[in-house]
Amino acid sequence: MNFSSNYFLAPMASYTDKPFRKIAKDYGAGLTVSELISINSIYYNNPKAFALAKRNYNEIPFAIQLFGYDIDLFIKAALKIESMCDIIDINAGCPVPKVLKAKAGAYLLKEKKHLISIVESLKKYIKKPVSVKVRMGFDNDNINTIDFYKDLENAGCDMVTIHARLRNGFYNSSVDYEHIALVCSRLKIPVVANGGIDSYEKLKEVKKITNCKYFMIGQAALKKPYIFEDLLNKKDSSRNIEYIKNLMLNHFTLMIEEYGENAHKLFRKFAHRYLSGYKNAKLINFCINNSKNSQEILNIINSIK
Ligand SMILES: Cc1cc2nc3c(=O)[nH]c(=O)nc-3n(C[C@H](O)[C@H](O)[C@H](O)COP(=O)(O)O)c2cc1C
Repeated sequence: MNFSSNYFLAPMASYTDKPFRKIAKDYGAGLTVSELISINSIYYNNPKAFALAKRNYNEIPFAIQLFGYDIDLFIKAALKIESMCDIIDINAGCPVPKVLKAKAGAYLLKEKKHLISIVESLKKYIKKPVSVKVRMGFDNDNINTIDFYKDLENAGCDMVTIHARLRNGFYNSSVDYEHIALVCSRLKIPVVANGGIDSYEKLKEVKKITNCKYFMIGQAALKKPYIFEDLLNKKDSSRNIEYIKNLMLNHFTLMIEEYGENAHKLFRKFAHRYLSGYKNAKLINFCINNSKNSQEILNIINSIK
């Protein structure tokens, strides 16, 4: 597997769509991943699922992340989308109750043998590399052991990303980088460190503890997608409001191209992230939330000073 840089964009449901992934890629993300897509929706040819799996011309390499439980369906879904990506990623970390109820996402960490069988089976039928994205465990009674990671590797898993939080830690609890360090020291396949990396300074700390080569960035990239450029430049940057304004215009334009008039509703959540910490953010967000069409959003962004 070749990556265009060592800093990957994390999959984030309803955020890392085609327009946002293009932006992250342009800033230097070395791997982009679709948001989690259900194996059932692919198997039953749901057009929305296929839209989520579509990449931009510049997304190379690109991974499609699948979630589900049934091994047979995993194989059938993976065969259907294999030609659309460079890597097939298995979600073994999603903490959302609806997903856990379907025995998918982080639930797979409670049935590790089953997860290993999914990997083994995919490797029999799929030619593209197969990676797995895990949390460091389901709960305190189910922390992933080195034997589990070794089993994943022996099953043919080509890369493992570790989001070093437990299921109940969701997205903001403390991150156990020592866990990643131990795994990284024991596996031959690439181990990607994930959780809490929000600056070059933080990256240096995480690199020192984990000794990993690859890193995945999630929430910080939503506020500052240029974090990939900062990491590549080995320096944290601060960008002024004029820069953020142009970034928002570029992003919104890509969203209009992708979604047409629906873009104005879908852009709101991104605007909130871009503007967090800026004076007048509350007022601008209020206006954006109440805008009725794309032109209004463009006017609001253009008026930001
Ligand atoms: C809004 C949101 C949606 C997410 N959706 C997914 C997803 O679809 N698949 C996945 O593997 N992880 C998902 N995650 C987890 C992220 O990929 C990442 O592991 C997590 O945010 C930790 O990285 P960070 O601390 O850099 O944000 C999501 C996280 C957030 C905040």
